[in-house]
Amino acid sequence: MPADQMREITLAKTPEGKLDVADFAPRTVPVPTPGDGEVLIRVLYISIDAANRAWMQGRTYREQVLPGTRMAGGAIGEVVASNDPAFAVGDIVEADTGWCEYAALPGKLLEKRTPRGPLTHLLSILGITGKTAYFGLLHIGKPKAGETVVVSAAAGAVGSVVGQLAKAAGARVVGIAGSADKCAWLVNDLGFDAAINYRDENVMKAVKREAPDGVDVFFDNVGGDVFEGVLFRMNTHGRIVCCGAVSQYDTDTPSHGPRGVPGLIVTKRLKVEGFIVMDFFDQSPQAEAELAGMVAQGKIKVAEDITEGIESAPAALVGLLNGDNVGKRMVHVADRTN
Ligand SMILES: NC(=O)c1ccc[n+]([C@@H]2O[C@H](COP(=O)([O-])OP(=O)(O)OC[C@H]3O[C@@H](n4cnc5c(N)ncnc54)[C@H](OP(=O)(O)O)[C@@H]3O)[C@@H](O)[C@H]2O)c1
Repeated sequence: MPADQMREITLAKTPEGKLDVADFAPRTVPVPTPGDGEVLIRVLYISIDAANRAWMQGRTYREQVLPGTRMAGGAIGEVVASNDPAFAVGDIVEADTGWCEYAALPGKLLEKRTPRGPLTHLLSILGITGKTAYFGLLHIGKPKAGETVVVSAAAGAVGSVVGQLAKAAGARVVGIAGSADKCAWLVNDLGFDAAINYRDENVMKAVKREAPDGVDVFFDNVGGDVFEGVLFRMNTHGRIVCCGAVSQYDTDTPSHGPRGVPGLIVTKRLKVEGFIVMDFFDQSPQAEAELAGMVAQGKIKVAEDITEGIESAPAALVGLLNGDNVGKRMVHVADRTN
């Protein structure tokens, strides 16, 4: 049986400007009792996502996280009590538990997960991260062998998978990331053909050098100046996959739209398409099986960046927005008991 009390992290206030750990407040609250049809989950790993920051300001695909409420976030947990016959004690589930040690949620809001390899893979390569890369690149970008793919936030959770999937598809792959160490890791460890440090050089010029035949597919996680720099190097009939805009989340003054829109979209006949990974959830089992197979065959290396303890969640998110992470960031809250 769980303890009576647990820790949770609330959003203390809607951030102004850059997010700070002082925008959060930890507190101790009673462990909830599951009601009719509810399941009590012991949280094992919490996913830390760039999108967490956007949720605090509203205007996204989900409700705004309001001050005084538990910080929202996806997690993997184990069932410790169940009033829903579809779930048994010991089941591993994925849910939006928020940043806490225990959550009671209706069974219909949970997804039962079957671990394949380490539990953490359910949040990284076999979770939202891997599936975002898979569906965005393969269903929207559709790279062909010999084409050039550029990916931004390339050393992050989604980007590091996108680049490896593009390599597996036979493309030339150029990553854009925020440090020399990250660029070296992309090329030396993940097999990217080239990497550009956007903090150190002009992106448009660097893409011209590293993608001499132009860019056929641009998988963009960043928006802003990086987007503009790659847009000018797109080939006719190129595809731009708009996955996110992390450069615009952690500020009160998002930059103006990039130059070249819509002019270059017209003259180069570009296809620019946004997506949310949930759009493809009916095809999740196939994606998961394929990604697991690629990991088993050594075609994808799984990069995870794990911080320890629920109290580390605020700093983990602040750090991610500053580019501290390499690969999928998550918080280890507890070990599985069953
Ligand atoms: N469409 C969907 O369904 C979906 C699902 C999941 C995620 N996403 C999006 O995918 C993107 C990546 O998310 P993630 O959770 O995987 O995070 P992540 O890439 O692991 O971490 C974010 C990275 O963004 C980079 N970054 C931060 N500020 C930047 C700036 N101003 N300019 C350029 N790069 C910046 C940092 O790396 P550097 O050191 O390189 O700066 C940081 O490591 C986000 O835009 C997110 O919203 C979309």
